[in-house]
Amino acid sequence: MLISENVLLRPFNTFGIPAQARYFASFSSVEELSTILTDPLVKGLSHMILGGGSNMLFTKDFDGILLKNEIKGIEVIKEDEEFVYVKAGAGENWHGFVMDCIKHNRAGLENLSLIPGNVGASPMQNIGAYGVEIRDTFYELEAFHLEDFTTHTFNNGDCEFGYRESVFKRKYKGQFAIISVTYRLSKHPQFNIRYGAIEEELKRMGITELSIQAVSQAVINIRTSKLPDPAEIGNAGSFFKNPTIAAPVYEQLKAVHPGLVAYPVDGGQYKLAAGWLIEQCGWKGFREGDAGVHAKQALVLVNYGHASGADIYRLSQQVLDSVHEKFGVDLEREVNII
Ligand code: FAD
Ligand code: EPU
Repeated sequence: MLISENVLLRPFNTFGIPAQARYFASFSSVEELSTILTDPLVKGLSHMILGGGSNMLFTKDFDGILLKNEIKGIEVIKEDEEFVYVKAGAGENWHGFVMDCIKHNRAGLENLSLIPGNVGASPMQNIGAYGVEIRDTFYELEAFHLEDFTTHTFNNGDCEFGYRESVFKRKYKGQFAIISVTYRLSKHPQFNIRYGAIEEELKRMGITELSIQAVSQAVINIRTSKLPDPAEIGNAGSFFKNPTIAAPVYEQLKAVHPGLVAYPVDGGQYKLAAGWLIEQCGWKGFREGDAGVHAKQALVLVNYGHASGADIYRLSQQVLDSVHEKFGVDLEREVNII
């Protein structure tokens, strides 16, 4: 375990932003994390946990200690007739974990295949895709308090999950390192293929009998066709959340913009497709310098190579302003801005 100084973060964030951390260290156990945090070199400095860096935008250097979570391990902690409870270390790669569940015929995460990042960040924003969110299968997590060094267990209700939300982004922001996450996976799959193009893709693949393997592959195919691969073009997935609006506001907008893409959600509200709003403002495929809006998915901002975090942030503000001006709708950034 080593604390390094002035570390270039380009390899540690999928936007490929060349910011620096004043100090950087990896840990593969709670004991190592405690040792780093009490080291006189960094004691008292601000700290931040880093996973795969796939939901962050560094707009400036990080003037503290960045702690890369490398806690590994996947184990079954209990099972019954219906479910298998699988605990994964926070530093496990998310997609690797999903593939491991599928290999063992444990159902529930297949729609969340190919989401970048690590297991430890999965509860942070209650990751979701293709009609499923982790809160549907999340059982509990262990978290280490970064100030008083106590370990806590959070169950599903404790996490206060919402759309791209949890307590860890709100009232406990920056306070905990998530150490492990346990998922409750089903021995008897209930397929969720109603979202978007899954059914169509399964048909194209020639699937006649559903399996979690087939659903996972369909999701992988759809994602690969429209989302940029961070290994080729820097990005952090959807830059903004899909905004939720009240029914009367939806009716007014729909009257003026008949093509508006929206889905009814709980509480009589509507969720708008932010990608559609952004595309209508003319941003899709836009590029200025190396900062741009992805040509196949307007919700994704991209770094073609040498954009700075400030360049991407500036572009995101222009997008926000134009959507506000044209539709009167305020977008919220999904990506964590540092
Ligand atoms: P990081 O980016 O490293 O961290 C994100 C935040 O969590 C930071 O605030 C960090 O401090 C905190 N954090 C990370 N690990 C821990 C920990 N162990 N303890 C405490 N805090 C921690 N997201 C979706 O929900 N659905 C999608 O479909 C989706 N698609 C994507 C597609 C692409 C191409 C990309 C690049 C991103 C996509 N994302 C998606 C966003 C991203 O993959 C997820 O948010 C992912 O969970 C981030 O994981 P990470 O390990 O990279 O987190
Ligand atoms: N659309 C457009 N133009 C675009 C993009 C989208 O018109 O450029 C419209 C289309 O009508 C499309 C609809 O928006 O049918 C929805 O698009 P898509 O299925 O690509 O999903 P999304 O709403 O843009 C959300 C998540 C993604 C997740 C997908 C699939 C958010 C903020 N984003 O995107 O998550 O993978 O659904 O479920 O909720 C992420 O969070 O980083 C992320 C990639």
